[in-house]
Amino acid sequence: MSYMAEDNISFSVNVVPLKKPTVDKLICFWSSIFGEEYLSNQATRAILSGKENSFNKDFVFIAEKSPGIVSTAHLTISGLDRRIGGLGEVATLSEYRGKGLAKLLCCKAISEFERRGGKCLFLGTNNPVAARLYSALGYRYIPGTRVMLRTTQGESPEEFLGTYWNCGRKEKIRIVRGNATFRIQIIPLAIWPYDGIVLDANAGLFSIRWFTQKSCMGLYPKYENLDKEGAWFAAVVNRLLVGISSVRFCANMAARIDGFCHPFFSKHALVSLYRHAICYADKKGAARIYAVRERNDSEKNRFLLKLGFVPTEEKMKIEMENNTIELIVYDYHGAKNSGRTALKMRRQNVFKET
Ligand SMILES: CC(C)(COP(=O)(O)OP(=O)(O)OC[C@H]1O[C@@H](n2cnc3c(N)ncnc32)[C@H](O)[C@@H]1OP(=O)(O)O)[C@@H](O)C(=O)NCCC(=O)NCCS
Repeated sequence: MSYMAEDNISFSVNVVPLKKPTVDKLICFWSSIFGEEYLSNQATRAILSGKENSFNKDFVFIAEKSPGIVSTAHLTISGLDRRIGGLGEVATLSEYRGKGLAKLLCCKAISEFERRGGKCLFLGTNNPVAARLYSALGYRYIPGTRVMLRTTQGESPEEFLGTYWNCGRKEKIRIVRGNATFRIQIIPLAIWPYDGIVLDANAGLFSIRWFTQKSCMGLYPKYENLDKEGAWFAAVVNRLLVGISSVRFCANMAARIDGFCHPFFSKHALVSLYRHAICYADKKGAARIYAVRERNDSEKNRFLLKLGFVPTEEKMKIEMENNTIELIVYDYHGAKNSGRTALKMRRQNVFKET
C-alpha cells in the first residue's frame, strides 16, 4: 500500500538540534505511542535539543498532517565512526498505519545514512509487524538478540560483524571516560557471543550466548544512567569501542567494579579498564572496592586474582528471566584509600547487602 496524495501529508527531514516546539510535539507523539514514560524521558529531549551534537549526528524524519505528526523515524549516526548508525522511534499514528508511511520514512533515513558513508544500521524491535517491515528493507535479526542490522553492501550480519573488529586489532588501546560518543559503538560490542554469562553486573549486561539481548538503542542508556551512581570507562582502538569497565557506588560507599572486553583485543585492555575503575573508586573515597564473578566463570576468577582481588565467602544473586545467577564476591585491598577502611568496616559487618 502507499500513502495517497490526497491525504495531504507533508514530509520533512529535521536535523538536530530541533526547536523546542518540535521537540515538544515529538515527545508528545512518541509518548502517545510508546507510553507515558516518554514524557519523563529527559534523555530524548536533551538529544533532540542538541546535547549530543558534538558526539553524534541525529535526524528526525517526520510525516505530518494538520494538526500534527502522523509518522516518524529517528536516525543517529555515530560521530566517531560514520559507518555505523542506529534507527529508533519508528512510529505511525494508529489511524494512518498500513499506508506505507513508516516504510517511506525508514527508506529516507537509510538513504541519508548511506549518503553520509553509512555501512551498517542497527535497530531493535520486539514488534513482529515492525520486524516484517524492516526485513523487507534488508534488515536481519542477529541471533540471540532483538537487534536487527542492515548493511549497505548486502553482507549478512555475521559477515559484517566478523570483519568489523579486524580494523585496529594491532593498534594501541586508549582508555577514556565513557560518554555519548559511544551511543552506537556500544551495540556491536554488546551483541558479541561472549563465553562468560555476566558482562557487566553494574549495567545489567549479559552475554547473548546465555540471554536474549532485547535492547539496541537502549544499551547506551544503561551506561548513561550509571554516571549518576558511579562512572564508566571505554577502551578505544581506532574508531572502535572494544571494552568497558564500570564503577557503581552501593550502600556504605562500597564500589563495585565490573567490565568486559571484546575477545579479539588483548587482556591488557581489560586490565587497564579495571585499573581506571579502581582508581576512580578510590579517589571518590570508596570505603570498599569489590568485584563479582559468576559461579562457573573460571576465566574471570583467574583474571580477578591476577589483578589482586581476593575471593570472599560472600555471595550475591541476580534474578534474570526466571533464572538466578549466583555471584561470588571478591575484595580489593590494594587501593590507597579504601583498603584499610574496608577491612575495618568488614569486621563491623557493615557490608551486608544483596
Ligand atoms: C510498526 C509501525 C511503525 C508500522 O507503521 P506503518 O506506517 O503502518 O507501516 P507501513 O504502512 O509502512 O507498513 C510497512 C509494511 O508493513 C505491513 N504492515 C503494516 N501494518 C501491518 C499490520 N498491522 N499487519 C500486517 N502488516 C502490516 C504493510 O503492509 C507494509 O508491508 P508491504 O510494504 O509489504 O505492504 C506501526 O505499526 C507502529 O507505529 N507501531 C507501534 C510502534 C512500534 O512498535 N514501532 C516499532 C518500533 S521498532
